[in-house]
Amino acid sequence: MKLKITILEGDGIGPEVTREAVRVLRAIATLHGHEFSFDQRLIGGAAIKEHGSPLPTATLDACLAGDAVLLGAVGAPEFDSLPPAGRPEAGLLLLRRALGGFANLRPAISYDAISAASPLRPEVSRGANILIVRELLGGLYFGEPRGRSGENDNSVAFNTMSYSVPEIERVARVAFEAAMKRGKKVTSVDKANVLETSQLWRATVSQIGRDYPRVTLEHLYVDACAMHLITDPRRFDVLLTENLFGDILSDEAAAITGSLGMLGSATIGGDVGLYEPVHGSAPDIATRGIANPFGAMASAAMLLRYSGRLEREADDIDEAIQAVLNAGYRTLDISSNGSGYIATTSEIGELVAEAVAEIADVRHAYHAV
Ligand code: IPM
Ligand code: MN
Repeated sequence: MKLKITILEGDGIGPEVTREAVRVLRAIATLHGHEFSFDQRLIGGAAIKEHGSPLPTATLDACLAGDAVLLGAVGAPEFDSLPPAGRPEAGLLLLRRALGGFANLRPAISYDAISAASPLRPEVSRGANILIVRELLGGLYFGEPRGRSGENDNSVAFNTMSYSVPEIERVARVAFEAAMKRGKKVTSVDKANVLETSQLWRATVSQIGRDYPRVTLEHLYVDACAMHLITDPRRFDVLLTENLFGDILSDEAAAITGSLGMLGSATIGGDVGLYEPVHGSAPDIATRGIANPFGAMASAAMLLRYSGRLEREADDIDEAIQAVLNAGYRTLDISSNGSGYIATTSEIGELVAEAVAEIADVRHAYHAV
């Protein structure tokens, strides 16, 4: 199988974690006889410095010409005082819109081997496995009008939260389809006691739910959901929500795993799939070899699953991640009270690449018998 993958390392720890994900993808290609080509481009702060724009035309063109995009992270403190449209993050939002993916899948899983890294008691977090389906192209991130008026003490700033029925329907279908393949439960999260957008959201999701009689649908207000996520995460299967609520709740859900560095994501529904870890650019720990590359690797696995339809290869990466964790290797962020062996970002990359090869060997041997 041939796959053209555009690599956007971005800022902060983006380059170091993405490199390890690419290492694992190369291992998969060699082991399984696939041809993956990697086209590396600039985005975010790195692109602003080089080209004066967070999403240069050459980057966007390369992304649209490929089969999938693997992104690290964007954001750098030196741009913090710029208005939203000039910041590194604007490059990512323009890219998301241009690629057209509206459903952002963010699995939050409790891994037994690192359950001690979670601030939640093991009896609360163990076994939790949530798929957050975050709407990615609507809501406050993209709503118009937006802006500022007035000066100084008379300044007013405003953003618009708006959703249309088709925008809600399409992402709701993704959530219900996913639930059919999992625990057959969808929790739709909104603020329908206050917001009109949420009332439309709730009514539309309920309507789509009628097409999936085998899936149990519940509605939760976002404030209550935030509480349930950390008091009883096992009550969730698929969690469906709008853009900003999904941004916030997915960071919170990382507490189940123990570190934001563990979570990967896939954005589907557009012309080209976009795969990025949920964590940010973490400039404070960049280039020190301590960044957690598991989220980037989990994103690479999702890339193979959704853009390559390579289910087995994707499963192999997920299994390799678990094997390396089970063997006791940890980056600093998931090494609770010094347990296990602390490994650098690139050591984890080597270990996962080796584990992927061992898994392929075992399967080969099994089939040869
Ligand atoms: C995320 C990030 C982005 C978002 C930022 C970097 C624009 O926080 O992917 O969760 O808010 O969507
Ligand atoms: Mn976020």
